[in-house]
Amino acid sequence: MSFEGFGKNLLDGDHVLITGGSSGINFAIADRFARLGADLTLIARTQEDLDESADTLSSTYGAETLGLSADVRNMSRLETLMERSVDELGKIKCLVCGAAGNFPAAASEMSDNAFGSVVDIDLKGTFNACRAAYDYFQKPGGSIIAISAVQSEQPTPFQSHACAAKAGVDSLVENLALEWGSEGIRVNAIQPGPIDDTEGMRKLLPDSGAKNRLAETLPLGRLGEKSDVADLAHFLISPMADFITGAVIPVDGGQRLVGSGGLVESVT
Ligand code: COA
Repeated sequence: MSFEGFGKNLLDGDHVLITGGSSGINFAIADRFARLGADLTLIARTQEDLDESADTLSSTYGAETLGLSADVRNMSRLETLMERSVDELGKIKCLVCGAAGNFPAAASEMSDNAFGSVVDIDLKGTFNACRAAYDYFQKPGGSIIAISAVQSEQPTPFQSHACAAKAGVDSLVENLALEWGSEGIRVNAIQPGPIDDTEGMRKLLPDSGAKNRLAETLPLGRLGEKSDVADLAHFLISPMADFITGAVIPVDGGQRLVGSGGLVESVT
């Protein structure tokens, strides 16, 4: 495939469904895909946020956008919404599994419900979305992008729940890639590192001094932007990535090379 793989109208008329799509990194991906011509279904918990985000994409790009509220822990609700969105916008070109939950907490003080909430949202929620979408993908030509995190491979204090959940996400991606590849569905994951101006970063690093100190520890010397993650999603959905599946790719400014030290210092 040539450079045309990044054409301006790459996703013209294609349906992309994004869980957690009303905000943060996931909304940045939605914005990029809408700019490339996609119609979108955004799924998140709060209808008000969904309405605002859907309006923005429709008015800016003319994208047909559905904002449908669901908790990814609720499989039957996801199944209902998948069917409805496919009726309205057509078979799914790409599912982005971005819904996630996180908070810093010491393992010694966390309840089983606290640990389980993050695993259920991040890992089981990713499985639920993939499973509910399975019948509705373009086959061949469909793909899944799961939003993992650098924590999946990097033990990080006060993140035992998120590290375990995201490690599970990486494994799930590899397994689905193996099982669904023959049907023409590619399955990949992005591992964002510290991305500025996101809910996750606000929870983990609430003060700007800590953010600056963390940035200084990174090989690239800065925090990521949401557009850095959208750039990789753009590549993964393009024909330039037609032979890529089961890949788990960091967008982290090199954080995994230096360990979680900066983050630990900032959280403690
Ligand atoms: N420290 C320790 N435990 C915490 C906690 C914290 N900061 N925040 C929540 N919990 C515990 C709760 O006490 C509860 O456990 P309990 O029943 O034993 O008391 C458990 O986690 C579930 O909390 P609850 O608020 O009922 O769950 P929820 O399903 O509504 O929310 C969360 C899920 C906890 C992940 C919440 O942070 C959330 O909704 N996050 C979404 C947004 C987000 O985190 N975005 C960033 C993504 S990187």
